[in-house]
Amino acid sequence: MSAMPTSPTLGCSKADLDTPALCVDLDAMEHNIDAVAAACRGFNVSWRPHAKCHKSPLIGAKLTAAGAIGLTCAKLGEAEVMATGGIQDLLIANMLVGPRKVARLVELRKIADPIATVDHVEQARPIGDAMASAGLQVRMIVEVDIGLGRVGSAPGAATLELANFIHGHPGLELAGVMGYEGHLLTIEDLDEKKRCIKDALQLLVENASLLRQAGLPCPIVSCGGTGSFVYSVEAPGITELQAGGAIFMDEFYREKCQVTHLRHALSVVVTVVSTPAADRAIIDAGRKTMHGDFVPPRVVGRDDLKFDRLSAEHGALTVDANGPGVRIGDRLEVIPGYSDMTNVLHNHFYGFRQDSLEVVWSLDARGRLQ
Ligand SMILES: Cc1ncc(COP(=O)(O)O)c(C=O)c1O
Repeated sequence: MSAMPTSPTLGCSKADLDTPALCVDLDAMEHNIDAVAAACRGFNVSWRPHAKCHKSPLIGAKLTAAGAIGLTCAKLGEAEVMATGGIQDLLIANMLVGPRKVARLVELRKIADPIATVDHVEQARPIGDAMASAGLQVRMIVEVDIGLGRVGSAPGAATLELANFIHGHPGLELAGVMGYEGHLLTIEDLDEKKRCIKDALQLLVENASLLRQAGLPCPIVSCGGTGSFVYSVEAPGITELQAGGAIFMDEFYREKCQVTHLRHALSVVVTVVSTPAADRAIIDAGRKTMHGDFVPPRVVGRDDLKFDRLSAEHGALTVDANGPGVRIGDRLEVIPGYSDMTNVLHNHFYGFRQDSLEVVWSLDARGRLQ
C-alpha cells in the first residue's frame, strides 16, 4: 500500500474523504451562480467574475457557460492559467510592472485577449511599446480610485490624461475604466451602504463620461465585489460586474457584508483529533487550512461549538456543556471565515451533489503569484 493519500473516487460520500478537505456543495454553488447571473441580466450588466477565489479554469469554464463574458484575474499568472484552460477574455485587475511581466503579457496576448489595468503612464508605456514592437495591440483599462485608497488614478484630469495616452499609443486599445468599492462592503446601515456605493460608482461613471466627452472610447465601466454587488449592479452606467466569491459565500460576506440571499456552498470537512478538556475540542484544521481573521469560521449545525482560536495546524473549539458534546474521531463541517483566503491553501475542491462526490477541481492557478 502506498504511504501517499489516495484520491477519493467519484460517487463516494463526504465521510469517505480524508480530512481536512475543501468541499463544494454543487447545488448551492449553482444557485449562487444563477443568482448573480440573473442580477446582471436584470440590469443589462455583463458578469466578469473574479477568478482569484477559485483559481480553476474548469470553474472558470462553468461560469462562462452560465453566461459570464470572461473572467477577472488578480495576477498575470492566474490569467496565464485561465488562458491555457481556454478562457480568452481576461481582465487582469492589477498593475503589471517590470520587463518580465511585460514580456509575458505579450506572450499571453498571442493566445488570449487580456485587458491590462493601469493607473499611471509608466505602467502603460512599456506595455504599449512591447506590444507595438511585436505587431500586437492589447486592451488597457484605467483603474480610478473611487475612495478605496489602494491603487487608482485620481478622478478627473489625471484619468483623462492617462486615457488619452493609451488611446494615442499604437500598441494599446483603450477599453474603459474600472474601480473597486471595497472600502464600502462592511457599512452596517444598509441604506447608508447603498448610498455610499451609489456615490462611489457615480464618480466612476462620471469619469467614463469625461472620456467619452473627450472623444475617447470607453466601452467598459467595471466594478463590484460580492460584498457590494446587489447595489453595484443597479448603478446606472456600469457595464460589468467583477463579483466572484459569491459563487462560494462565507461568513465574512454573510456577517460583515450582510449578503443574505446566497447559499453557503463552501465548507471544510474536519476531524476532531483531541478533547483535552470537557469544554475544549481540537480539530485537524488551523490557519493553514482555513481563514478566520475577519470573522470566525462556523461549525455547520452545531451552535454548541464555537471557534476559540486557530493556530497553524490546530483549531480550538469551545464546547457548550449543554450540547451533545464531541468525541475524538467525530467529523464536523465548517464554513470558513473568508473563502478567498481559505481556497488558496488547498490543492483541490471536492464537489458534492448531496452526499455524492461528482467532481474534483484542482486549483491550477494556486501559487501563481507572479
Ligand atoms: C479589484 C477587485 N474586484 C473585485 C473584488 C471582489 O472580489 P469578490 O467578489 O471575490 O469578493 C476584489 C476583492 O478583493 C478586488 O480586489
